[in-house]
Amino acid sequence: MSSTVTLQQLTDRLDVLEKKAAAEIAEAVNAQSLEQLRVGLLGRKGRISAVLSAMGQLPGCDRPAVGKRANSLKDQVQTLLADRMQAVKQAAMAKRISQEVLDVTIPASGASMGHRHPLISTTEEIVNLFLGLGYNVAEGPEVEQDRYNFTALNIPKDHPARDMQDTFYLEGDLLLRTHTSPVQIRYLEQNPPPVRIVSPGRVYRRDTIDATHLPVFHQVEVLAVDESLDFSHLRGTVMAFLKAFFGDLPIRFRTSYFPFTEPSAEVDVSWHGRWLEVMGCGMVDPAVLTGLGLDPERHSGFAAGVGVERLCMVRHSIDDIRRLYTSDLRFLEQF
Ligand code: DAH
Repeated sequence: MSSTVTLQQLTDRLDVLEKKAAAEIAEAVNAQSLEQLRVGLLGRKGRISAVLSAMGQLPGCDRPAVGKRANSLKDQVQTLLADRMQAVKQAAMAKRISQEVLDVTIPASGASMGHRHPLISTTEEIVNLFLGLGYNVAEGPEVEQDRYNFTALNIPKDHPARDMQDTFYLEGDLLLRTHTSPVQIRYLEQNPPPVRIVSPGRVYRRDTIDATHLPVFHQVEVLAVDESLDFSHLRGTVMAFLKAFFGDLPIRFRTSYFPFTEPSAEVDVSWHGRWLEVMGCGMVDPAVLTGLGLDPERHSGFAAGVGVERLCMVRHSIDDIRRLYTSDLRFLEQF
């Protein structure tokens, strides 16, 4: 067999390849060019393989020397590639760090904030106005005893006024309170006059749902008991409150009836050409005071029950009470 290449030639080729590869690797500036070099040098059709395939033309005794040399060149190239890769990556990172400037004054991309539900903000506004008049906040349970919700408010068992308030009855003498007025009794049982409180909360009635009725709604109860309070105090307080809440909307007092007040009135505000009822009120009935062990000759009081949904709907021109309870973001996001 006549050989076309000699051992010397192949060894020389590998020597040249070694120098060239080292120079090329040292010049590579990024991961991509290093990968191209790796394939071109070590791949199946790469430059080292080309030398190895020429090895078949050598006499058998010369082949191990070339094979050994080629393998050590492969190892060497691999090491050079890995080292260079690391250097290139470090350089890229250093460059990025030096170029990336963090501007802490750029406004944050707006994370959308939640906000108070209009019923909550209306309740807070009502309560805050009364806090400003020197009132305190009192609370009572939603599951109430018949006694507090009715009897102590001068509404005995067979009183027709019980039918005015379609009640959800629970076990025994418990019920879901139909108004916040029972807090008047609870508070006066514990606190002697002078008393000035507001009591916000949920109330329940078996009403058929429509644009102005829901089986659950909110009231704020107002109660003042002191010596020598009269109707002018009630009127002045209600007017001051409504003026603060509604501005200059016309207001009228209309004679009404509630078992726990005498005299009683309902208050309307003029809105879009109509009179809209926004609260009931009156002078605490002497029978209620007597029931609490107070002397009506000495103490008198006034009370009011404000409809929160009503005030909220007027304030925001909401046409249907159900919108306040359906959690529709397109609606809620307007407030
Ligand atoms: N509790 C009454 C209702 O829910 C509203 C009310 C009227 C409350 C007159 C009062 C009041 O405190 O004096 O219909």
